[in-house]
Amino acid sequence: MGKKGFFICVEGLDGCGKTTQTKLLVERLEAKGYDAVYTAEPSLGKIGKFIKEYCLHGEKRVSSIVEALLFAADRFEHVENEVVPALDEEKLVISDRYVYSSLAYQGAAGLSLEWIRKINEHAKRPDLAVFIDVEPETVVQRLKPTKSVMENLGTQRNVQKVYMKLVEKGELVRIDGNRSKQEVADDILTVVLGFLEKPSLTS
Ligand code: TYD
Repeated sequence: MGKKGFFICVEGLDGCGKTTQTKLLVERLEAKGYDAVYTAEPSLGKIGKFIKEYCLHGEKRVSSIVEALLFAADRFEHVENEVVPALDEEKLVISDRYVYSSLAYQGAAGLSLEWIRKINEHAKRPDLAVFIDVEPETVVQRLKPTKSVMENLGTQRNVQKVYMKLVEKGELVRIDGNRSKQEVADDILTVVLGFLEKPSLTS
């Protein structure tokens, strides 16, 4: 199951340019002859759509525990329906967000990382995960603030802290996102190609 394909995910704060960079990475890998496919979380499945409609853009946020459980359920569907079938076809699956988003966002909201890991035990381990690190101040300026700017900044800082903890543990590879789109894209491509050429050294 999924022998020859590779599963790579891209993480970062909202507004860090992650979706643009993930799509660009897929294009650039395809240009190099890889059979790459873009996926994202929340996924295209029913739970992913439910999350988008009722949790992210609704008037009232659900509790972090419910959020974490929904994201874990959506992840199961994403892996089963999109990731594994593509890996079985020996594709390179590039996911825009994965389990690290749950650790970072729901962890920053106060849930224990152990519990988040537990409910995500089913989640297939990616071969490589990169974190586009952009200063929280920068992303807050880019995003339309929904609450007070400071509150938003505080949240983004907490999310970044968890991501950096995962970088220190070696679970994520940090990419300096505080540069031009081209420079960031070049760096991500270098890391990914480095991994693809010698997967056993980095996984
Ligand atoms: P985002 O990538 O911004 O999706 P979209 O562009 O479709 O709105 O992700 C949506 C939000 O969901 C983002 O703020 C991060 C959050 N999120 C979590 O809190 N936990 C998770 O496990 C995932 C996958 C996302």
